[in-house]
Amino acid sequence: MLDYVTDKVQDETRQGEAYAPFANDPNGYKKRFYIESYGCQMNFADSEVVASILNSEGFGATRNVEEADLIFINTCSIREKAEQTVRKRLTEFRKLKRKKKGMLVGVLGCMAERLKTKFLEEEKLVDIVVGPDAYRTLPALVEEATGGQKAVNVLLSRDETYADIAPVRLDSNGVSAYVSIMRGCNNMCSFCVVPFTRGRERSRDAESILNECKYLFAEGYREVTLLGQNVDSYYYVDEVKNETVTFAKLLEQVALVSPLLRVRFSTSHPKDITDEVLHTIAKYENICNYIHLPVQSGSSRILQLMNRTYTREWYMAKVDRIKEIIPGCGISADIITGFCTEEEQDHRDTLSIMEYAQYDYSYMFYYSERPGTLAQRRFKDDVPLEVKKRRLQEVVDLQNRLSLESNKKDIGKTFKILIEGESKKSDTDWKGRSSEGKVFVFPKEHYALQKGDYVLVRADECTQGTLLGRITAIQ
Ligand code: SAH
Ligand code: SF4
Ligand code: F3S
Repeated sequence: MLDYVTDKVQDETRQGEAYAPFANDPNGYKKRFYIESYGCQMNFADSEVVASILNSEGFGATRNVEEADLIFINTCSIREKAEQTVRKRLTEFRKLKRKKKGMLVGVLGCMAERLKTKFLEEEKLVDIVVGPDAYRTLPALVEEATGGQKAVNVLLSRDETYADIAPVRLDSNGVSAYVSIMRGCNNMCSFCVVPFTRGRERSRDAESILNECKYLFAEGYREVTLLGQNVDSYYYVDEVKNETVTFAKLLEQVALVSPLLRVRFSTSHPKDITDEVLHTIAKYENICNYIHLPVQSGSSRILQLMNRTYTREWYMAKVDRIKEIIPGCGISADIITGFCTEEEQDHRDTLSIMEYAQYDYSYMFYYSERPGTLAQRRFKDDVPLEVKKRRLQEVVDLQNRLSLESNKKDIGKTFKILIEGESKKSDTDWKGRSSEGKVFVFPKEHYALQKGDYVLVRADECTQGTLLGRITAIQ
């Protein structure tokens, strides 16, 4: 999510790219699986749960798809493009499957949930279809499919949170990890397919979240990102301890694991983020000063059609409040252009709210109608594609300018950076992030540092995506 690298139109899944896990030593494993993930961070976190479930049943991960007996693709339905990417990938897997007898292909995640058994009719060479709440049954489904049956489980659950499963960290940098704190979504944003693919909202046991964070810290991790579609509505009643845990309380508890563990979270719904959460962020140095606050549109009329339950003015007041309580807080957004009935004036309202909020970064998309959503049933998708795209380009251009301006303002200032690893471009440079989520690149110089360490870096130069600086002190 916090990848400040793109200046191109983002029109695909957030991460854009698939990723595949490391190669476990396959010796001793009865079968080897390969898993590729698309979509949001929740899906990436889920793949780590899937890997854990499969590992404990004697399956080992491989990075090499040709070597795999089982290929899983964890899918996203958020926009049509995301689904097209998956279908394209499936045609490639199909070729491999023809070559290798006994190889099974499984579709996981949101597209599996959306299409259910239809998947088997449409994509004849898919053997297993599993929705996001049914991963515990994967080993049994693999057995079934190995026996020649098509295996499907797309049941959604009201209480599954995989709380007791320790995720196997896939392709991790060993510094940052995602921790899922809730599942599902009870909001009904009219454009969005997530409530249909992920089911009802439910919060994970607070104790299990804390234990996972403590474990990660002990393993050397220095940053956790608490994940949920709407983290501010996290609410867990611990009947044993007789306490209720709100999101603010959870944040505080995670922050107290260690001052050296940075805490991030995603995503906040503007209607739900409370002053209590903002004060908690301000109180703890290790809770990052960064909030992803999707606006979607700057027009109150469009926001109403989107069922976002806030107006332009309400959102702007929320931005003011954030900046008042957490001075210098980084803010990013998600923006959709060309939603049903959007006029030029609505679009200009989006541009002007971006200027108002001075986003450091945005994830920008043009509207893609999704089957079964409220918008698909109620409104006509009436903005022509070229208009959607042109407006998107204007939004992207503006964001590029805002990102550059935001970085320029940081020049001359010093930031505490968590080193995430070597810079991709040079092994004599480190790459890391500030609390505000900005990417820094700086020379290693003579210091004996390693990833996971904190340093103070003065920003000297910048591009739109990166700040370049020098170490001024070791923390
Ligand atoms: N739960 C998060 C977002 C989940 S989806 C939230 O409420 O903010 C991530 C983003 O994808 C959304 O914020 C929205 O900007 C975008 N998105 C969702 N449905 C879309 C659609 N049908 N067309 C285009 N973009 C969409
Ligand atoms: Fe979708 Fe809205 Fe839920 Fe986010 S809050 S997942 S946009 S329905
Ligand atoms: Fe996509 Fe599902 Fe996430 S639709 S954005 S993978 S919740």
